[in-house]
Order: sequence, then structure tokens, then C-alpha cells
Amino acid sequence: MNPRVALLHGPNLNMLGRRPAAHYGTLTLPQLESQVREWGVERGIDVISFQTNHEGAFLEHVHGLIGAVDGAIVNPGAWTHYQWSIRDALELLAVPFVEVHLSDIEAREPHRRISVIRDVAAHAVWGKGPDGYRDALDFLKERLA
Ligand code: DQA
Repeated sequence: MNPRVALLHGPNLNMLGRRPAAHYGTLTLPQLESQVREWGVERGIDVISFQTNHEGAFLEHVHGLIGAVDGAIVNPGAWTHYQWSIRDALELLAVPFVEVHLSDIEAREPHRRISVIRDVAAHAVWGKGPDGYRDALDFLKERLA
């Protein structure tokens, strides 16, 4: 059976395609999700996507994934920088996950350099646009082999 990887997006990422292209590019979220799904197929990984703008919905979705996925790719949007409940839910999920950001969070406003989920992430990729998700899949493929 193929490894199952959850692709999780947080607030405002449903608005990709309308957000500043200089930071986030021009792909919409459905386009990004289908690109990641295809990269998954090429690597023998099943990708299951979810996005929400609601913290509680995100937490409950992650709780429901416990024991059901082998890894995750997570772009929590602005929650990355302050939302400890998201960090704790990802810790509970207890599978290797990659924190991904489309933009170069190290080269933007100082508050974006803080990640409260980094200490529980297996790996982090930022500033590579959609290609960062492909790197995340490559990392998980090795880690889950
Ligand atoms: C983001 C970076 C965050 O700072 C921002 O709040 C986002 C998207 C990124 O993908 O670059 O919503 O996670």
C-alpha cells in the first residue's frame, strides 16, 4: 500500500491566485493541490488535501488523521507564527511532517521568521514556491521508505 500523506493548508491559502504574486505566485489552491497530488503519484505517495480558515476545524481535522496517515505537508499560513494549538495538534499527529511556505519567510517582516511549529517538524522548506512541496514529498519519500 502507498504511504498516505496529508497536505494541510491554513488561513487565506484558499485565496492563492489573488494574493500578492510576488510572494505567492499565481497558482490557485486547487491547481497547487492537484500539482502536489501528481508529484505524489510519480513517487508512489497518496496525497490527501485539506484547507480551512478555522482553527478548530483544522485541529479536529488533524485529530481525525491520527493513525490514518504516514506523514504530512503543512503550510499553516499566519498560524505558523503564533498558533501554539496548531503546534500541539501536529505533535499529537506523531508522524513526520514538513513545514512548507511558498514565500521566503526569512526575508520578509520579522514576525514571519518565527515558527512555533518548527520544533515538531521533521523538515522545513520556504521561498521555493510550489517546488517546495515537491522537495517536501522527496523528503517524506526517503523518510517513510
Ligand atoms: C505563508 C507565509 C505566512 O507568513 C503567511 O501568513 C501565509 C503564507 C507562505 O506560504 O509563504 O499565509 O505560509
